[in-house]
Amino acid sequence: MKIIGVGSVVPQKVLTNAMLEEFLDTSDEWITERTGISERRIITSELLEDMASEAARRAIADAGLAATDIDYIICSNVVNEYITPSMSCIIQGAIGAKCACVDVNAACSGFIYALDMADDRIKSGKAKNILVVAAEEPTRMVDWADRALCVLFGDGAGAVVVTEGEGYIASRLTTASKTSCLYYQRRLEPTPYITKEEKSAPMYMNGRDVFKTAVLSSSRDITALLKQTGLVPADIKHYVLHQANMRIVEAIASYLKLDMSHFPHNVERRGNTSSASIPLLLDELYQEGRLQRGDKILMSAFGAGFTTGACIFEWTK
Ligand code: UT7
Repeated sequence: MKIIGVGSVVPQKVLTNAMLEEFLDTSDEWITERTGISERRIITSELLEDMASEAARRAIADAGLAATDIDYIICSNVVNEYITPSMSCIIQGAIGAKCACVDVNAACSGFIYALDMADDRIKSGKAKNILVVAAEEPTRMVDWADRALCVLFGDGAGAVVVTEGEGYIASRLTTASKTSCLYYQRRLEPTPYITKEEKSAPMYMNGRDVFKTAVLSSSRDITALLKQTGLVPADIKHYVLHQANMRIVEAIASYLKLDMSHFPHNVERRGNTSSASIPLLLDELYQEGRLQRGDKILMSAFGAGFTTGACIFEWTK
């Protein structure tokens, strides 16, 4: 499998730390020091499905294909306004594709899980051109009176088109069920027969626990992938890590004894956009001309579950 097209979309509204200071007991200093985030993009009047469809159109155009050339769509998504149908079905209709579609929810690691599913499908010969989209609106999952959480997130959608080729070198997915440290719970419709107690709760996160788990698991995944492929840390041109917190990226760089020049980042302008963060950053690097043919890129993500996903691929465009 290789990547032949990339595209992304973020909402119009820029929400700065100073704007958060207007209604929260917080400060630009606290947010910047603890997270590296200065501003994020947040959905106002946009529909996530429109952003996802536009990111998909851009990736398909970049690949030089038509929507009808796509023979499978996988969308990574945690929440949107529909429980069903899936976001991938909505994207299919919006872009005019005709293929089978499925969504995957592996929280912030979802884009890597979706890429890995695409690789399997291509290897099995069941599909040739696959659209992988990650579309997320985590700003709709948090309590906006909770200063510990709402300052962290932003919204966005990123997409890639993959096809047969020699770009995807290795991958590693892990899950260790730890549902109590990060979750968002929604009450379902009542029935006359429900006797159990049910509740809705905005996102809960034990930040310190997640921080430690994230650094350890991502460092472990990266080390394992490098060992498996016989590469050394400096062989990787770009470590495109899930953009949750600048301190997490810095801790992983320090663990690998690499300077930050190998670790592109946009968390300072985008906040944590869940599984969309990696394709958003990849598209930025691509648009800025920072990806050269032959570059080895390592992506690594972690998120609720607790899930992790990492992969190494070569830039072949
Ligand atoms: O993609 C999903 C994965 N999620 C993550 O990767 C998040 C991982 N965790 C983190 O990034 C960090 O844990 C946070 C940025 C969420 C928090 O940073 P921290 O250094 O772990 O701070 P803390 O939660 O221990 O809170 C320290 C203090 C507390 O006050 P006290 O108890 O020491 O008086 C908080 O109440 O900071 C306070 N605090 C704030 N103060 C000002 C929490 N949020 C804020 C805020 N502004 N926004």
